[in-house]
Amino acid sequence: MPLVDMRDMLGHAHREGYAVGAFDLVSLEFLEGILKAAENCRAPVILSLAESHFSYYDFSIIMPAVEAAARRATVPVAIHLDHGASFERAVLGIRLGCTSVMVDASTHSFEDNSRLTRQVVEMAHACGVPVEGELGYVAGVEGEDAEHHPGEVRYTEVTEASEYVKRTGVDFLAVSIGTVHGRMQGEPRLDIDRLARINKALGIPLVIHGGTGLSDSQFKQLIDNGVAKINYYTALADIAGQSIRRNVEADARCGYTGLVKDVSEAIQHETERCIRLWGGVNRAAEVMSCATLKKEVDHVIFYNTSGITAEQVTELMHIGHETLGNIPGVRDVFTGHAIQSDAKFKHCWVVRFSDQAVVDSYKNHPAHVDYADTHFRPVAGDRITIDFEESAERRPTNQ
Ligand code: 13P
Repeated sequence: MPLVDMRDMLGHAHREGYAVGAFDLVSLEFLEGILKAAENCRAPVILSLAESHFSYYDFSIIMPAVEAAARRATVPVAIHLDHGASFERAVLGIRLGCTSVMVDASTHSFEDNSRLTRQVVEMAHACGVPVEGELGYVAGVEGEDAEHHPGEVRYTEVTEASEYVKRTGVDFLAVSIGTVHGRMQGEPRLDIDRLARINKALGIPLVIHGGTGLSDSQFKQLIDNGVAKINYYTALADIAGQSIRRNVEADARCGYTGLVKDVSEAIQHETERCIRLWGGVNRAAEVMSCATLKKEVDHVIFYNTSGITAEQVTELMHIGHETLGNIPGVRDVFTGHAIQSDAKFKHCWVVRFSDQAVVDSYKNHPAHVDYADTHFRPVAGDRITIDFEESAERRPTNQ
């Protein structure tokens, strides 16, 4: 069960002077290649899903695969929502299994960026989930994802960054110091002095977007000055494209599986190169020894009703699904009827929380308070409620 709290993962990297790769994945081949690279290097890794890519895959369909693969890994993994553009998207990301979220309001004014980010931080922290914010703006230049980041680069100001972190409470900050999303044009010029000043002022793990195209020595300078997470995508997409084109050239009649058969390996090689370069090799055991494992909690209620009909019980459950299922940190809602006619309790709820922190935030959430007081408690006085934390022994059964 190597899903870990990204605060611990990046805290370790920041202290020890290396960076963890956050690799955006867009298919199962990417997922497999990235995780194999991390396993080979015994390195922590971040599986990243960027909102700008959601038109290429169904976020809610790919997430169960990402989560299953992460749980099967033997190195520490975090699942991250990259460039989430709204509060609602952050809630959805957590519901679907992201253990960390980015809120990207970097195109908004300082005030609006701070306000939205603060809102997301309050919600996410109440779900046990850390948050990355962005201040300044990392534009895109050319390549697959560049069009999602139009306009000019805007550098992060040191004093604004301090104020932003204080106001918002973000755990990690994405800074703009000269990188761009997509392919670099010409020699990239990074403002390392600015980065050093931001690092000194903030003391929290910093994040670089637009990892593609930087030189080995630039990566070293970034890491030496507080960068603990490097986002990387375009180079992986280009390498996957090259691998497909090679297969077309080798056999013009090649079918789909023949075209993509080498993609995973190509992704793996490039990911391994990055992990080695960024200092992540053999860090897995150290991270595991200091990181909190992500454990879900099942909030279980067994109950009997009084004074209502079977149809009203069904309606009670229906309203509950709608209401409780939308509370941040709730991953799933199960309602059931006992199969045995002599069962001590006739009905149940099993509400799955993303984290133990949700036990309190769920209980106090206005939607829960209203539902419980108005609909449930008046007719379900006979009940027991227990919160169960997932045991550390939980293993996927598909290995
Ligand atoms: P590149 O595509 O330039 O590697 O940047 C990726 C990124 O920053 C995703 O958030």
